[in-house]
Amino acid sequence: MALPKKVKMVEVGPRDGLQNEAQNVPTAIKIELIDRLTDAGLPVVEATAFVSPKWVPQMADNAAVMAGIRRKPGVDYPVLVPNRQGLDAAIAAGCNEVVVFAAATESFSRRNTNCSVDEGLARFSEVCAEAIARGLRVRGDVSVCLGCPYEGEVKPAQVTRVARALYAMGCYEITVCDTIGTGTPGQARAVIEDVAKYVPVEKLAGHFHDTYGQALANMLVALECGVASFDSSVAGLGGCPYAKGATGNVASEDVLYMLDGLGIETGVDMAKLMAAGDFICAALGRPTLSRVARAISAKTKAA
Ligand code: HMG
Ligand code: MG
Repeated sequence: MALPKKVKMVEVGPRDGLQNEAQNVPTAIKIELIDRLTDAGLPVVEATAFVSPKWVPQMADNAAVMAGIRRKPGVDYPVLVPNRQGLDAAIAAGCNEVVVFAAATESFSRRNTNCSVDEGLARFSEVCAEAIARGLRVRGDVSVCLGCPYEGEVKPAQVTRVARALYAMGCYEITVCDTIGTGTPGQARAVIEDVAKYVPVEKLAGHFHDTYGQALANMLVALECGVASFDSSVAGLGGCPYAKGATGNVASEDVLYMLDGLGIETGVDMAKLMAAGDFICAALGRPTLSRVARAISAKTKAA
């Protein structure tokens, strides 16, 4: 199958990455990171999460982040909301796009959101109805699609049931997430093909953590299936506080290098993206996890 000519790169580092930091990341650093990412040409930056600060204290400065960023015209800044309280706070902070996040397994749903899968879907149905009535767009994430840290194997039908429900609620895009990065390409294809029987493939996105080094391979398979929207994290930051051992999302620099090599248009500038990665790595005091950023920097230094 022909690959898409254009891909939407959704940067999730400021949320998926920084939610997992043990150290306190100052709000001003988060704001500068987001602005640098949009300057690099990223069309979507997941900026923060309006979740309970008791559960994820790293995102407690959500409203200050939204107030401080320079909103670049044409860029979307989705934020995670787990319930009606989060939606109301996101609207008060001037957000125009929210992300609801359901899980394919009962155990992960309980650990991450303290409710069953169906209770979560009922909450999200209310959130979607209210958000859409108020003119917001809603994206729907499905966690643990290719493996669960508590239940192990996940069947495609479990993912499809949740993805269909989110699509029926009015989510404009449904993201198939490999939360713990254990999935392999055959599995990724099976899940995407199953979901695509009910949700048009152009409405699907991929979110692959790179814990086992499979993310780009999974992404390529998803591209072959016709998926043209992918989450990634600058410098490979991230993880999920409720999925121990899971490392960051696939690095945005690595995704961009592969897409550039395939001749797929993204609108993202590698040098500026790498500079944003250098900025956050310096602030966190650690090296980048992007293989591409490391390789290009080493080559530049040697020249
Ligand atoms: P709960 O404890 O059952 O909620 O948590 P509650 O309704 O009983 O409320 C408890 C307290 O939290 C109350 O405060 C509420 O006001 C407050 P108190 O009265 O005790 O002072 N509260 C809130 N505060 C601010 N904003 C809110 C909010 N809601 C309640 N929205 C809840 C249930 C869903 C709230 C909680 O479990 C939660 O916030 N979970 C979010 C966990 C999370 O953010 N995980 C990481 C993001 S998901 C992820 O990383 C996966 C992803 O990347 C995709 C992938 O890779 O799979 C997206
Ligand atoms: Mg994630």
